[in-house]
Amino acid sequence: MDFENINKLNTGDEMKSDLCSILGIKYPIFQGAMAWIADASLASAVSNAGGLGIIAAGNAPADVVRKQIRDTKKLTDKPFGVNIMLLSPYVDEIVDLVCEEGVKVITTGAGNPGKYLEKFKENNIKFIPVVPSVALARRMEKSGADAIIAEGMESGGHVGKLTTMALLPQVVDAVDIPVIGAGGIADSRGMAAAFMLGAKAVQIGTRFLVAKECTVHENYKNVILKAKDIDTTVTGQFTGHPVRVIRNRLARELEKIEKNLVDEEAANARFEELGKGALQRAVVDGDVDFGSVMSGQVAGMVNREQTCEEIIDELVKGFDKLIPEN
Ligand SMILES: Cc1cc2nc3c(=O)[nH]c(=O)nc-3n(C[C@H](O)[C@H](O)[C@H](O)COP(=O)(O)O)c2cc1C
Repeated sequence: MDFENINKLNTGDEMKSDLCSILGIKYPIFQGAMAWIADASLASAVSNAGGLGIIAAGNAPADVVRKQIRDTKKLTDKPFGVNIMLLSPYVDEIVDLVCEEGVKVITTGAGNPGKYLEKFKENNIKFIPVVPSVALARRMEKSGADAIIAEGMESGGHVGKLTTMALLPQVVDAVDIPVIGAGGIADSRGMAAAFMLGAKAVQIGTRFLVAKECTVHENYKNVILKAKDIDTTVTGQFTGHPVRVIRNRLARELEKIEKNLVDEEAANARFEELGKGALQRAVVDGDVDFGSVMSGQVAGMVNREQTCEEIIDELVKGFDKLIPEN
């Protein structure tokens, strides 16, 4: 498998063509950041297997993230990234921290990265925001992003409105920097499809939830392993921060509030109350009934616990069979 070549097939543009060598990774596979979940254990295992492991900073304070970064460095000598939640109360400290620690790649979710971009450039950090729309992709490119992750609403966690199939090629056409496809990709067929749509790499979250090195609670893993195609739902459209989760007791409760929406302020307050600490409840305590079990629609295809190396190996070998000339 020569990913340099397959990248070159899609474009003659230098910057677009060599994402793997720019990032120093073997395979164009990113492990999606997952708040409370993507720690040193998961990120280092993915990086050791040739992908890009990404630590999720979530809302954690700097000392917690520092420990994850240092532990990752002990477990791998390969590049890895950190995902910064720009709405985190600790964002300034986390930005200083990743610069101090010499992290090579930063991905970001919701929020405006504007004031941090100069710092990323000064510290030679590749800045790769996650976007749900063409307009935001264009804005991020103008701001100086090195690449873009276009994430469709099939994905687990916070979602936009477009599917990966529709969003990815439109973002590819709109920008001149490499685009990474995310959302709904769980095997080599999805990966090949993303490349056909113009992606230079893929980002995968849900499948890595059940990796052996993933430290999420066993109950959470079991829910993903048993899930069927229609078992996820999106809650909180009216709040402006919709989230894809497994439909459990909490999700049904939230759906009920949304369905009977009369007083938006009261509904928002109830959402906040029920949602507070809900991801932690599921991830750490294993409360998969009244915790938030974030998951993508591909949960129905994820039915085996494997090591990160096995997952990446399967993705790469399957891709090779589908597109043999590369
Ligand atoms: C449990 C969970 C937590 C997530 N947390 C984050 C996060 O903290 N930051 C982020 O940028 N994306 C987050 N995501 C999105 C993933 O990084 C990734 O883009 C997405 O899972 C890809 O779609 P897939 O689930 O279909 O593979 C999360 C996804 C899941 C499933």
